[in-house]
Amino acid sequence: MPATVMTFANFKGGVGKTSTTALVSYNLSKLGYKCLVIDFDAQANITSLLLKTKSNESDIITINTTLMAAINEQKELNEIIINIKPNLDLIPNAVDFSIYPRYLEKNFENEIDKVAFFSNKMDSLRAEYDFIFIDVPPTLSLLNDTAFYACNQIIVVLQTQERSLAGAEVFIQYLQDTLINEFNSNVDILGILPVLSKKGARVDQEILKAAIQEFGSDNIFNNKISIMERIKRMDMQGITDNQKDIHDRNVNKVFTDVAEEILKRLSSVKKEEV
Ligand SMILES: Nc1ncnc2c1ncn2[C@@H]1O[C@H](COP(=O)(O)OP(=O)(O)O)[C@@H](O)[C@H]1O
Ligand SMILES: [Mg+2]
Repeated sequence: MPATVMTFANFKGGVGKTSTTALVSYNLSKLGYKCLVIDFDAQANITSLLLKTKSNESDIITINTTLMAAINEQKELNEIIINIKPNLDLIPNAVDFSIYPRYLEKNFENEIDKVAFFSNKMDSLRAEYDFIFIDVPPTLSLLNDTAFYACNQIIVVLQTQERSLAGAEVFIQYLQDTLINEFNSNVDILGILPVLSKKGARVDQEILKAAIQEFGSDNIFNNKISIMERIKRMDMQGITDNQKDIHDRNVNKVFTDVAEEILKRLSSVKKEEV
């Protein structure tokens, strides 16, 4: 079975896409699934988070070849994979990725060839993993289209704050109009994953209710991500997973539950396809 390629997406920044991608893949790898995280953001947040997770000590890991250099030099992507822990690999990114859209414009004439470039580039990786997660920046752009086109499933991250619902609607419409209708991509939306803004906040409950009305309760994840201070600390320290620490246990439990719901949703998608 080829990998399920996924991304957590939304065109807003700071809604938890990167933390969620890292923690879901980390916990899927603990459940025994072989995961690859591809950093597709020149800000390289998930590269930094996962490299810190790899080295709890202060030893510095240097990246020899960036994703952009591999593309420019026509190297195979498996040459730049960094192992983080058992079952969890990373393709790192760096600031030179900001020229990627120009690379596409320069090297391909047809729109579809630009959009399909990365999907083709990563084809050889699909047989090697159970899951490949692409962590994208918060834009609607050619750059992200090339990531979305490579995906089988997209999980829409919905931060339950005012105006986020409209953002999610616009985003889903964009996927439908551009990726699916215009470029014939096979990508599907696996569901909408709510990220709550505060414990028990009224606005969260109201937006959730409105989201259920808009998208149907089946399309909203049962598991919701709450705000946990420990996740912020992980920006500095990497993912921590000390069984004796209740905050580590809580964070990893939430994301294990989300990982298990992803598995469940995928198995019902597969049943529908039979
Ligand atoms: N569930 C959460 N609880 C608390 N802080 C979070 C949570 N998810 C993300 N954060 C923090 O919010 C900030 C933005 O998150 P990030 O994952 O980088 O968002 P994005 O990738 O959407 O821009 C980071 O400092 C991160 O540590
Ligand atoms: Mg991010």
